[in-house]
Amino acid sequence: MIRASAYTFKILRFDRKEPGDKARFQSYRVRIIPGLTILAVLNRIRDEIDGTLSFRSSCRSAVCGSCAMVINGRIDLACRTQAASFGTDTIILEPLPNMDIIKDLVVDMTRFWTMYEKVKPWLYRSGPDPEKEIGQTEDARALIDQFVHCILCACCYGACPVISRDPEYLGPAALAKLERFVLDSRDERPRSALNEVNSEHGVWGCDTALKCIEACPKNVRPTDAIIDLRKRLFIDKARQFLGIRK
Ligand code: FES
Repeated sequence: MIRASAYTFKILRFDRKEPGDKARFQSYRVRIIPGLTILAVLNRIRDEIDGTLSFRSSCRSAVCGSCAMVINGRIDLACRTQAASFGTDTIILEPLPNMDIIKDLVVDMTRFWTMYEKVKPWLYRSGPDPEKEIGQTEDARALIDQFVHCILCACCYGACPVISRDPEYLGPAALAKLERFVLDSRDERPRSALNEVNSEHGVWGCDTALKCIEACPKNVRPTDAIIDLRKRLFIDKARQFLGIRK
């Protein structure tokens, strides 16, 4: 027989629409069975205990990226994290850092999306649309594989130590997405497009603290992307200096 155990969930509560509201933890006691995810617990709290609790979710299967939050100090997706996996019966839930809280576990992602848009995250073609689909070899596809897996959950953005001191920093997700298109055999963006990220708010801002890699639930390695973009910029500069044309 599966036994249920009582857990305490301490959830950060805040409502920016309430003037003078202060962020505070509210505790909920919930009986759970092994295997239950944090998202399932949140749904139960909202449906059965406190209908005012706010959080984001959609797919419930680590695909949409909506449910990113801080779970016992670790950034992860609530729908893929089992409540019983921490070895403690107290679970602390907080919203993603580096973004303003709208309500409870829901953060304002406007800046994340603004930075993302800045790298022009789409397949760039210089000519008119082709008559038929543009082919890609398996080897070429493998080059972009890890970056295609990004679900834009902003776990990396929340974990990045640079964003907390430089809100203009593009951030790991945006730079990893740029790398995804730079590496794509079908993309024809001019090399000069990299100049957009050639600044301290772009690739040179990264501390290489690897926090983004640690936080990514999809095993994307944004720091690797940033280092590769730096290398490309450096090579371009060296070529320019030596008068070498491509
Ligand atoms: S609900 Fe979609 S990633 Fe968690």
